[in-house]
Amino acid sequence: MKIVPAVFERHAAPMLELLNDAILHTTWVYDCEPHPESYMREYFDEHAAGRYPVLAAESGDGAFLGFASCGPYRHYQGYLHAAELSVYVVPSARRAGVGTALMARLEDECRGIGIHTLVGVIDSENLPSIALHRKCGYGYAGTVREAGRKFDRWLSIVYYQKILEDKSSAEAVRG
Ligand SMILES: CC(C)(COP(=O)(O)OP(=O)(O)OC[C@H]1O[C@@H](n2cnc3c(N)ncnc32)[C@H](O)[C@@H]1OP(=O)(O)O)[C@@H](O)C(=O)NCCC(=O)NCCS
Repeated sequence: MKIVPAVFERHAAPMLELLNDAILHTTWVYDCEPHPESYMREYFDEHAAGRYPVLAAESGDGAFLGFASCGPYRHYQGYLHAAELSVYVVPSARRAGVGTALMARLEDECRGIGIHTLVGVIDSENLPSIALHRKCGYGYAGTVREAGRKFDRWLSIVYYQKILEDKSSAEAVRG
């Protein structure tokens, strides 16, 4: 498996399929209507404009396995060094370390653009995502009860966060 910068021409279609499947069938994402094809062009443009990474995971033979990205946590200037992350893995590739690999690479990319804090905003019933964040070193940072509504019921979100260690200074300190 390899993690590569996502390329619109190669990855937009399978990313949209994965995202729309989650929108239609789960509460893991609070969008309720599937996105049109044009959504992905905007998605790539917005991430490129903000210099936020969009990463894709591929198998050795180039099959799409999943993606991870981040964007502004909130839009006020003081939040410049915080970002909210997303990670999605195709159902057939889950539980094989793809999500962990995407998160690790995303963190490296985020350090490179000056992100200090990464935040996961997760549906409280999304136990695989909560477990993934915990395994990757994210700590529980609060719950907003009944923040969302989908499929005719209230949904709560939990926050998980990680403060990114500056690897270069940590290595310098360690000598
Ligand atoms: C959450 C998700 C990205 C995890 O990706 P993944 O590639 O399966 O994750 P990994 O294989 O790297 O798993 C890492 C750890 O997460 C935990 N985990 C992952 N899936 C789990 C599951 N179904 N049940 C319990 N723990 C799980 C485990 O601790 C696992 O480590 P282990 O296999 O050594 O026990 C994937 O399930 C997914 O795409 N879900 C749908 C989209 C989604 O919910 N995205 C997050 C939105 S906030």
